[in-house]
Amino acid sequence: MSAALYAKVRRVVPPMEWAVFEPDIEAILRLKRDRNAVILAHNYMTPEIFHCVADIVGDSLHLAREAQRVQADVIVMAGVHFMAETAKMLNPQASVLIPDLEAGCSLASSITAADVRLLRLRYPGVPVVTYVNTSAAVKAESDICCTSGNARRVIESLGVPEVIMLPDRYLAANVARETGVKIISWAGSCEVHERFTPAQIRTLRAENPGVVVLAHPECKPEVVAESDFAGSTAAMAEYVTDRQPGRVVLITECSMADNIAVLHPDIDFVRPCNLCPHMKRITLPKLRATLETLTHEVTIDPAVADRARLAVERMLAV
Ligand code: 13P
Ligand code: SF4
Repeated sequence: MSAALYAKVRRVVPPMEWAVFEPDIEAILRLKRDRNAVILAHNYMTPEIFHCVADIVGDSLHLAREAQRVQADVIVMAGVHFMAETAKMLNPQASVLIPDLEAGCSLASSITAADVRLLRLRYPGVPVVTYVNTSAAVKAESDICCTSGNARRVIESLGVPEVIMLPDRYLAANVARETGVKIISWAGSCEVHERFTPAQIRTLRAENPGVVVLAHPECKPEVVAESDFAGSTAAMAEYVTDRQPGRVVLITECSMADNIAVLHPDIDFVRPCNLCPHMKRITLPKLRATLETLTHEVTIDPAVADRARLAVERMLAV
């Protein structure tokens, strides 16, 4: 079992690291069976989590859809807190656990429910579209949610000339360029993606001739403008699988390239590295401890959960 797993990740995990990971991986696989647990892992998890212990992997949208479908007593979210909350909303019967309660997100912490209520007073009648990277309390104040994978579709589904789109100013600006709908945004940003600059993309191109540049839409519009394609983490993975570029760079969190590189040994991945400190709080030892102790359980006030669920379910229906 271990040898087969190591064969999957050996291009990105050195043997010395594997020796450290192996006991935790074996324990986690055993505990998942004992607890009737399923691990959902975001594309930004490190390869030993993504390829060796996760049952379902993907972008925020895919994880939300799958959380709704999962039949297990326990869902462990190998991702950040808002993802665990979304899973709990969509699968309230399951016990949803997160290995580290401090795994937050700079976007989620940029806005509160009270801020949304004030925006509604200022722009009466304008629908509120909320990025899933927000707390359940903020989702509860919203009309509909979106992810980076469906933002344009969600906005256009409303059939209105103007929307409030929260809280990522760059995602809002990037979507505004693709649609005729007027977008009122908020001043939030992703601390990982906002560090990329257009000059960095130009240098990457000069140093790596022929490189195809894929950027996440949480990057600044001027970074997206320097790129060949912009899309969610799942859309970037799909681009690589479908188009098989000879050389590619993913303008997003570091682990993403490691995880896809494992599946495409013939593609040259250029790897500038911006780590998400929140995603990186999730480690194999913490996943093991979560399954051993069944902590930390994510709970949502039922009144908030019911309203937030509506906004998420409206998104899933688009
Ligand atoms: P997606 O996986 O939905 O593209 O989101 C990226 C992200 O930053 C999640 O925290
Ligand atoms: Fe939040 Fe950015 Fe980290 Fe995603 S990568 S969890 S958006 S801080």
